[in-house]
Amino acid sequence: MKFTPLFSTLLATSFVLGTSAETFAIRGTNDNHRKLVSFDTILSLFTPVLEVVVRGALGASLDPLSLSLSVSQEIDSVVFSESCTAAATVTYKVGDLTGLGNFVIDNMAVVEGSADIDVSLFRGTTWDATFNVEGGLPEGLEAIVDAEITADACGVPYQQSVSGLLDALDARVNFSVGTSGSIPGFFGSPSVSSTTFADVDVTLGSIETSIDFGNGVEVDLASSGLEGAIIDAIIDAIVGPFADILNGALGGGFSL
Ligand SMILES: *[C@@H]1O[C@H](CO)[C@@H](O)[C@H](O)[C@H]1NC(C)=O
Repeated sequence: MKFTPLFSTLLATSFVLGTSAETFAIRGTNDNHRKLVSFDTILSLFTPVLEVVVRGALGASLDPLSLSLSVSQEIDSVVFSESCTAAATVTYKVGDLTGLGNFVIDNMAVVEGSADIDVSLFRGTTWDATFNVEGGLPEGLEAIVDAEITADACGVPYQQSVSGLLDALDARVNFSVGTSGSIPGFFGSPSVSSTTFADVDVTLGSIETSIDFGNGVEVDLASSGLEGAIIDAIIDAIVGPFADILNGALGGGFSL
């Protein structure tokens, strides 16, 4: 929970209410409390705060993210020489992944109809909303890889292992965050009492590697299906830890 104080402080110092174009009527038991409150203002202040906190948590816990993935693919036609094209088995072992800490939020919006403010003489003012967060890792992800190729290359047994780097480009991460909190008095700074992160969705656009088996051996990552298999394996490995960090480090309540 080491980020809770940071989150709390940032929220406490930057969360204020105001009025702007998009306003929400307040439900309440007392008509004197019926006023207009802007979730646009909450959103514009919450977005950079959430980004800082998510970056901090991911950076501290998942950058690097220890992976030991092994992705194998039978490839029908690998070019071994001008006169020999043969089937081969190519295995990529993907090690520690760096770059998850560079998460940036590109867009964040209140889910339509989810924002609510409730004023009660007994409970005070409480608010809740669900935000859709769209973000990415513009600096990409990088991992060390070991690659191995084995084949019967036109009657000649062939085996080669090389190490290199793998770059995963165009990483996109979306998730939603359900938030509820309270506002002391009417115009005080809101606090967040709970956040629930859900629907973490990751996509990777493409993979580039420095792997070169040498000897004129050409393996086309994209057309062989190996690129897609590596992308799927990396996404599978990222989504769980990413969601765990959001929920574990940031998901509890914040006393401001
Ligand atoms: C993120 O959300 C945007 C907008 O809804 C969508 O176009 C994109 O495909 C989503 N990406 C992921 C990784 O879910």
